[in-house]
Amino acid sequence: MAADAWDPAQYNRYADEREQPFWDLARLLTPAQDPVLVDLGCGDGRLTAALHHRLGAAHTVGVDNSQAMLAQAASHASDTIAFDLGDIGAWQQQETYDVVFANASLQWVPDHGKVLRRWIHSLKPGGQLAVQVPSNADQLPWLLAAELAAELLTDPPPDPVANNVLTPEVYVWLLDELGCSDQHVRLQVYAHHLASTADLVEWLKGTTLTRFREPLGPDAWDNFIEQYRRRLLAVLGDRSPYLFPFKRLLLWGRRPES
Ligand SMILES: C[S@@+](CC[C@H](N)C(=O)[O-])C[C@H]1O[C@@H](n2cnc3c(N)ncnc32)[C@H](O)[C@@H]1O
Repeated sequence: MAADAWDPAQYNRYADEREQPFWDLARLLTPAQDPVLVDLGCGDGRLTAALHHRLGAAHTVGVDNSQAMLAQAASHASDTIAFDLGDIGAWQQQETYDVVFANASLQWVPDHGKVLRRWIHSLKPGGQLAVQVPSNADQLPWLLAAELAAELLTDPPPDPVANNVLTPEVYVWLLDELGCSDQHVRLQVYAHHLASTADLVEWLKGTTLTRFREPLGPDAWDNFIEQYRRRLLAVLGDRSPYLFPFKRLLLWGRRPES
């Protein structure tokens, strides 16, 4: 996906709902003294800075590959919080961090076994990994989007969640294989009460649908959104309010002390 398909304003339209899993993930961390934190796929940096303060971190780095997101993140930089341009799929440091945190970003990159190996390698002994990914590829709104894109594009970009996100049991296996002495993996279904079915389109425009924006171009993008809205309402019904069940996987693991 083009890095700057991201629109921070569109993404933040459902900021409250998106924050719930972020803080559920943060609650999996056990307190540490002045931890050094990295937030991979930090987005606009608002939650990175909030997490930095919540954990009492000594130093925090946010990494993202979207210039649009990083431009927003700059306002949260300080003596102890920095933001860097980088590809989290290739990112690795040598035993540098007490906490490697990634909320709603790992799904955008492939090869989770290899990526998690690099991330765990970046932890100091005893450090903690905390990752949250959506797990919705089998749900109707996502399937309808892929179906419509296949009608409009000769080579539609695949759904990263369908391609990249593994099953909960595979993550359990991976974390164990990668040496996590202690781990927690759970599937959590969030119940989001949206004002109407049409709000679902606005939600998905900020994330999964962004991958179609560039290949479609501006006019076809508007047409895509309109057709998608019609199909979604025809299948799900034009309801107000609309209950949006959102499946997410929360992963936590600790690297052994030695
Ligand atoms: C859904 S947003 C999540 C932002 C933030 N973590 C939060 O919880 O609000 C996903 C973020 O991952 C970033 N991202 C996606 N693929 C990436 C990659 N390969 N390298 C770095 N950042 C990436 C996007 O630019 C975006 O800011």
